[in-house]
Amino acid sequence: MSDIKSLSADYFDSKSEEYTNDYYLNQQTHPKWARQKSIVSFVRKYLQSSNTKILDIGCGPGLLEEDLSNLSYKGIGMDISKEMIKLSKQRAQSKGFNESWEFVCGDCEDTRLEPESIDCVIASGVIEYMPEDNKMLEEVNRVLKVEGLFILNVTNVFGVSTSLNRLSHYLKGIPGVMRLADFVKIRLLESNTKAKRLSFIPRKHIPSAFIKNARRNGFELLDDVYQGFTLLPAPFDQIFNKLIGRKFIDLERLNNTPLRVLGASYLVCLTKKA
Ligand SMILES: C[S@@+](CC[C@H](N)C(=O)[O-])C[C@H]1O[C@@H](n2cnc3c(N)ncnc32)[C@H](O)[C@@H]1O
Repeated sequence: MSDIKSLSADYFDSKSEEYTNDYYLNQQTHPKWARQKSIVSFVRKYLQSSNTKILDIGCGPGLLEEDLSNLSYKGIGMDISKEMIKLSKQRAQSKGFNESWEFVCGDCEDTRLEPESIDCVIASGVIEYMPEDNKMLEEVNRVLKVEGLFILNVTNVFGVSTSLNRLSHYLKGIPGVMRLADFVKIRLLESNTKAKRLSFIPRKHIPSAFIKNARRNGFELLDDVYQGFTLLPAPFDQIFNKLIGRKFIDLERLNNTPLRVLGASYLVCLTKKA
């Protein structure tokens, strides 16, 4: 496996519970919930029937499957991390959607599924952990039926919120800086978990270039939404909001304006061309 791919697989394997708690279960206002809601909206809008098969690659802890199963959708959740698959199986069992969703360990660049066997592929927060896009796009194209849906997001290189990611990654490598980051997170932001430093930097995309490449790989754009708007880059936005005691303003409506290009996440609904 190439570097970013194996490093991220190990990371999610070792942090499966922390990821689930920090980004979802302990934070009902985290932007990942908004992303999940938009994915469900695209499925409801563009997937004609619930009698179809969905494949969620990089399914993580299976929270999206829980929402989709409540709407009678069924399919396969796939993840390279055994620990994530263990969590999603436990969730499916405890929430009663283990009959409609199967969870398997697998690689989104080589799923081993039958060609043209899937109606809708979802990849939420996954492509940035691949060394490049084409292998995954080719594999998704192979397993999708003609006119099937491909819903995925990329991290926007022009996003305000994520613009200091690379700098903060390097700063956190300086001795003592992680302790400062922990202080900011735990004391100022009142988080119950310490700051994180990954051993790799997830990729970002130029949205227009991504769409151009998706077209070259046999997809057409049906719909899109920019999300994750902030006035300042992280962590300054969270600190600012904490200091004034609330979220300054709800910026998500910027998606309906030309400033949408400043959203941190670009979620698209593509369709496989005939
Ligand atoms: C940021 S998490 C996203 C989880 C979930 N989709 C969500 O939206 O919260 C990325 C997930 O992709 C998985 N992943 C990373 N590389 C993968 C690969 N090559 N094939 C399948 N899953 C992969 C990780 O194990 C992790 O669970």
